[in-house]
Amino acid sequence: MNRDILLKVNHLKKHFPLGKGKAVKAVDGVSLHMYRGETLGIVGESGCGKSTLGRSLIGLYQPTEGEVIYGGRNLKDMNEKERFAFHRNMQMVFQDPYASLNPRSTVAELIAEPMDVHGMYKNKQEKMRAIVRLLEDVGLNGEHANRYPHEFSGGQRQRIGIARALALNPEFIIADEPISALDVSVQAQVINLLKRLQKEKGLTFLFIAHDLSMVKQISDRIGVMYLGHMVEMADSRALYERPFHPYTQALLSAVPIPDPDKEEQRERIILKGEIPSPIDPPSGCTFRTRCRYSMEACATMAPRFQEVGQGHYAACHLYDSDVVDAGKRQKILAVKG
Ligand SMILES: Nc1ncnc2c1ncn2[C@@H]1O[C@H](COP(=O)(O)OP(=O)(O)OP(=O)(O)O)[C@@H](O)[C@H]1O
Ligand SMILES: [Mg+2]
Repeated sequence: MNRDILLKVNHLKKHFPLGKGKAVKAVDGVSLHMYRGETLGIVGESGCGKSTLGRSLIGLYQPTEGEVIYGGRNLKDMNEKERFAFHRNMQMVFQDPYASLNPRSTVAELIAEPMDVHGMYKNKQEKMRAIVRLLEDVGLNGEHANRYPHEFSGGQRQRIGIARALALNPEFIIADEPISALDVSVQAQVINLLKRLQKEKGLTFLFIAHDLSMVKQISDRIGVMYLGHMVEMADSRALYERPFHPYTQALLSAVPIPDPDKEEQRERIILKGEIPSPIDPPSGCTFRTRCRYSMEACATMAPRFQEVGQGHYAACHLYDSDVVDAGKRQKILAVKG
């Protein structure tokens, strides 16, 4: 994989105003970059801001603060032509393909719609050939073109959703929990399809999921979100082998291990309490109210999102030598670990 950066996000915030000076801080200062051709998995509990982040990246939401830079161009500065190309290059696959596909349109019409908006084919036969090719790409066939969404299974409908997302030959796909609504037996098929398409078409993927077990198969790197913040990001393997952030450790402890001996010894970290409200998040580190290592500094200072290993980032005071020295860190981890 080349290491050419396709997308960069700097200090992105998306707050939804509620009036009287209050707001839902759905995304509250996220920075990240994505390499061309990679899959970045984003995980975190419901409401932590994954979809809002995805929608902000794709230009569906205007950020409250911060910026999105795509192919070296700031989204804010794009002229109409650039924006049109940007929208063509960024596509989305949704969790519930049934809700996102108009039930009164045939599969061919559904796939043709974005093509027509972008004036891709002048010739009708050429367009139909492209539609059939797309259906074949996603494991369906030309005979499916004249059917309606309700005539398909959940997995097949997700394939239609994927074909539609591919209709404009995009570079970048945001898949927002694309397999969460599918039967377990079908999930692997859709993951394999996405992996194959990525390879064939050189796509860059942002893959959103609830839990770590779903993103492992497909992600090159993984980012973990909590209450509007990115708390850890690393290569998939590093994240699984050596999670730094106490929240990542807790999420990972819930993932079953295939090896029965290891599974027997797996320590389950139960997070105390509920997720606080994003309207009035805790001061300092927003995870501190549920963290087993919480210390004084956590209430007063927000942790920096800093490099803790090569390309491995975490936002936790435990790993900031300005806050906790190595000796003290050992002691804290030994007591609660
Ligand atoms: N359009 C909106 N207006 C107001 N609040 C919103 C809006 N969209 C999302 N929120 C709030 O922002 C927070 C983050 O929501 P978001 O949908 O991004 O979370 P998520 O991580 O995708 O959750 P899930 O896993 O349930 O899909 C939540 O508190 C949600 O209620
Ligand atoms: Mg969501």
